[in-house]
Amino acid sequence: MKSWRKYTIAACCLAVLGFVGAVMFFYWPHGLPQVEASKAQPVGAELLARGEYLTTAADCAACHTTKTGKAFAGGLAFKLPFGTIYSPNITSDPQFGIGNWSDAEFVRAMKSGVGKHGEDLYPAFPYTSYALLSTDDILAIRAYLTTIKPISQPSPENQLAFPFNQRPLMRGWKLLFMPWHPFEPDTARDEQWNQGAYLVEALAHCGECHTPRGLMFQRKQSEALSGGDVDGWKAWNITSDKKYGLGMWSDQQVAEMLSTGHTKGHGVASGPMREAIDLSLSKLPASDIDAIVAYLRTVPPVTGDPNSAVVRTRDEVLSASSSPIGPDTQLGKEIYGGACASCHGWNGVGQFNPRAAISGGHALSDPEASNVVRVVLQGSSDHEAAPGKTMPAFAKIYSDAEVAALANYVVEHFSGRKGTVTAEEVLEAR
Ligand code: HEC
Ligand code: HEC
Ligand code: HEC
Repeated sequence: MKSWRKYTIAACCLAVLGFVGAVMFFYWPHGLPQVEASKAQPVGAELLARGEYLTTAADCAACHTTKTGKAFAGGLAFKLPFGTIYSPNITSDPQFGIGNWSDAEFVRAMKSGVGKHGEDLYPAFPYTSYALLSTDDILAIRAYLTTIKPISQPSPENQLAFPFNQRPLMRGWKLLFMPWHPFEPDTARDEQWNQGAYLVEALAHCGECHTPRGLMFQRKQSEALSGGDVDGWKAWNITSDKKYGLGMWSDQQVAEMLSTGHTKGHGVASGPMREAIDLSLSKLPASDIDAIVAYLRTVPPVTGDPNSAVVRTRDEVLSASSSPIGPDTQLGKEIYGGACASCHGWNGVGQFNPRAAISGGHALSDPEASNVVRVVLQGSSDHEAAPGKTMPAFAKIYSDAEVAALANYVVEHFSGRKGTVTAEEVLEAR
C-alpha cells in the first residue's frame, strides 16, 4: 500500500481513538494500584539477583542505554513516521530518572503504560508485553534498577506532530489493545512450556518485533509471530510453519540461533536481533533457551507473504554450479567480489568467522532485500568479534545505486530470485 494512503487511514483511525480516548478520559484506571509482593518473593541479595536476571531477559537496556551513553540513562531516539520520541532515563536519579517514583507508580507504568504524573505513555515502550508480567517480577526489576548508578541527565524532548503529541489518544488505543490480565500458566502444559510462554510473550517480548502490526500499530494477535517489521528490518516468521517459519529447523538449530546469533544452514541474525542476542538472550541460562524453543514449537503455523519464504537452502546454494547472473547485476557482482567475498566466499559459507556463514539465511531469499541493505549500510553490531572479523558498515563507501545493485546481486546469487531494490529505497534505509 502506498505510504501516504496508509498514513491517511492511520490518521482517521487516530480520530476514532481520540473519541474513544475522550470517553475513556474519565474511566481509565489511572489510579495507583495497591502493590505488594507475594510471600514467595525473595529478599536481599536473592531479590537483586532475580531482578538483574529479569532486567536482562526483558532487555530494558536495548532501549534505555545508548551505544555511547551510561547504563539506563535513556536518550535513545525512536523515529516514527510522525516524529521522534526518546527513551527516558530510568536510573535512580531523583530529578531526571525514576529515583522518586513509588513502587506503585513503577508497577502502573509497566502494567498500564502510565507515567508518574498520570500521563499516557507511547507503546514504543513495550508495555503491551510487560503487562503480562507478575507484580513480584516487576518489583524485582524495580529493586535491581535502584542499585544502578544514578545519572543526572535529562532526555531530549519528544518531537511529535499534532495530533500524535496528544498523549490521551493512547488511552483509547490501550482500551482496544492492552492485555487486561497478567500471564496465566496453562495447567495442561508442563513447567518448561509455561516458562517458555512467559519468556516469549511477556519478558523477552518477541512479538513486539515478530508479530505483524495493523494500521493502528496494534499487534495482529491472530497472526502472532508470523513476521513483523522493526525500523525497516524484517523480523521473520518464527511460527512452526514449515515453509515460512521454523518448522524445518531442529531444536538445536533454533537454540543455537537464539543464544549465539548463527546456526549452520540458516545463516545469521543481524540488526535488532543481533542486539537482543548480545544484550539479553546470550546471557540467559540454557534452560530458558530450551523453554523458548519448546514454546515456539507449539505456536500455530501461519503462512506468510510468498516473498518471505526461504527458497534455497544452504546445500542447494552449495551445489548450484552456476548462478543466474544477468547483466544488470554485473555491478553488484563486481562489488561482491571486491568487498564481500573475502569474508563470505562466493558460496556464502564464511571464512575466518563462523558467523559469516550466510547461505541458507532468510535474509538472502527476500526479493526486497530489506535486511541485506541494512546490514550492508550499518554493518553488524556483533560486540565481541575482533576488528577485521566482524561485518563493517559500508554506508560511507557505496552510493545508493551501488548498494541497490549489490543487494539485488546477493539475493539473485544466493536464492535465484530477482531482487527489486531501488536506489530510492536505499536512500530511505540510510
Ligand atoms: C523497545 C524499547 C523499550 C524497551 C525494551 C523498554 N523500554 Fe522503557 N520506555 C521506552 C520508551 C520509548 C519510553 C518512553 C515512552 C513515552 O515517552 O511515552 C519508555 C518509558 C519507560 C518508563 C517511563 C519513564 C518516565 O519517565 O515516564 C519506564 C519506568 C520504563 N520505560 C521502564 C522500562 C523497564 C523497566 C524496561 C525493561 C523491563 C523497559 N522500560 C524496556 C522504550 C523501551
Ligand atoms: C528488537 C526486535 C526483536 C526482538 C525483541 C526479537 N527479535 Fe528475533 N529477529 C528480529 C529481526 C529483525 C530478525 C532478522 C535478523 C536478520 O535477518 O538478520 C530476527 C530473527 C530471528 C530468528 C531467525 C529467523 C530466521 O528465519 O532466520 C529467530 C529464530 C528469532 N528472531 C527468534 C526470536 C525470539 C524467540 C525472540 C524472543 C525471545 C526474538 N526473536 C526477539 C527482531 C527481534
Ligand atoms: C570482515 C568480514 C566481512 C566483510 C568484509 C563483509 N561481511 Fe557480511 N558479515 C560478516 C559477519 C561476521 C556477519 C555476521 C554478522 C554477525 O555475526 O553479527 C555478516 C553478515 C552478513 C549478512 C547477513 C545478514 C542477515 O541478517 O542475514 C549479509 C547479507 C552480509 N553480511 C553481506 C555482506 C556483503 C554484501 C558484504 C560486502 C559489501 C559483506 N557482507 C562484507 C562479515 C563480513
